[in-house]
Amino acid sequence: GWSMENVLDEEIKVIKSTVGTEDHVICALSGGVDSTVAATLVHKAIGDRLHCIFVDNGLLRYKEKERVMETFERDLHLPVTCVDATDQFLSELKGVVDPEKKRKIIGKEFISIFDAFAHDLEQKLGRKPSYLVQGTLYPDVIESCPPPGSGRTHSHTIKSHHNVGGLPKDMKLKLIEPLKLLFKGMSVLIIDLSIFSRRIKVRQLGRILDVPQGFLKRHPFPGPGLAVRVLGDVTTGNALDVLRQVDEIFIQSIKDAGLYDEIWQAFAVFLPVRSVGVQGDQRTHSHVVALRAVTSQDGMTADWYYFEHKFLDDVSRKICNSVRGVNRVVLDITSKPPSTIEWE
Ligand code: XMP
Repeated sequence: GWSMENVLDEEIKVIKSTVGTEDHVICALSGGVDSTVAATLVHKAIGDRLHCIFVDNGLLRYKEKERVMETFERDLHLPVTCVDATDQFLSELKGVVDPEKKRKIIGKEFISIFDAFAHDLEQKLGRKPSYLVQGTLYPDVIESCPPPGSGRTHSHTIKSHHNVGGLPKDMKLKLIEPLKLLFKGMSVLIIDLSIFSRRIKVRQLGRILDVPQGFLKRHPFPGPGLAVRVLGDVTTGNALDVLRQVDEIFIQSIKDAGLYDEIWQAFAVFLPVRSVGVQGDQRTHSHVVALRAVTSQDGMTADWYYFEHKFLDDVSRKICNSVRGVNRVVLDITSKPPSTIEWE
């Protein structure tokens, strides 16, 4: 009968026979659930002929790199090269305020780093890697490339998601998409499955692959990272650092209150304005941050989350008391539509 264990065995067989006994495979890990589960699955099938890369683009959350690398290495034993490309990304982003331009730059930098990684690997192995693992689930491509019959065309593309279809054609890598296989065994067309049930399936698969529970439940995080959460020029002052501290307090408070799993996504946004405040006996002219939390089934529509007043009061105090340079916290109370989940 159908069970996740059978699906796993089947997938491992398929990957083994696809890749064969000689070829090498590369995979870009984003730190998200999908790419992690996909890589873990491929690693089970072909061992260290899998080569993963994780890029620190300088736009990650507080301790994100350390946290995901620990999961990759200690819990999952994945072969991962961690590339610190903070300077490269931030220097390209300097002065850029347009959200779509930011996304394009980040996508382009990512490709150049990935290219260099593939090239280095070829030197080291004496042969080209032949396959690329993609953790793509169908829903990831919806906003970049609407499904046929959806009534939406490319001109309706809402945001350019750089993590889909952006790799250079001349790399000539064949794709392995293990999470797509995941839905083949079920006699249901992929298109008919809700994104919600797909996410559950990926988590189930992750669980039997021993991906830690806490990791599997992480909120989605956009490929361009904090670049779309610092409005305007991300290199202004210490915006990224302030945002990381605020975001960490907010998320930690949500976890402490036991609310994390009820929420689809929660995060802070750094606003490019200053407001007047008074802290101690000092008049301040400091940063304003916004908090955003939404519930959703698929990210396509979303409702803003109702926190209790006491919770909001505690978080706001904690942020102003412990993050230097912030004197005002506001809450985003708009749903999607008319807003989007992210502010850029
Ligand atoms: P919006 O802001 O369009 O977000 O309502 C819907 C979902 O998509 C995520 N998002 C992105 N993910 N690259 C990504 O990988 C992007 O450029 C991007 N923009 C938005 C967002 O976090 C939410 O989950």
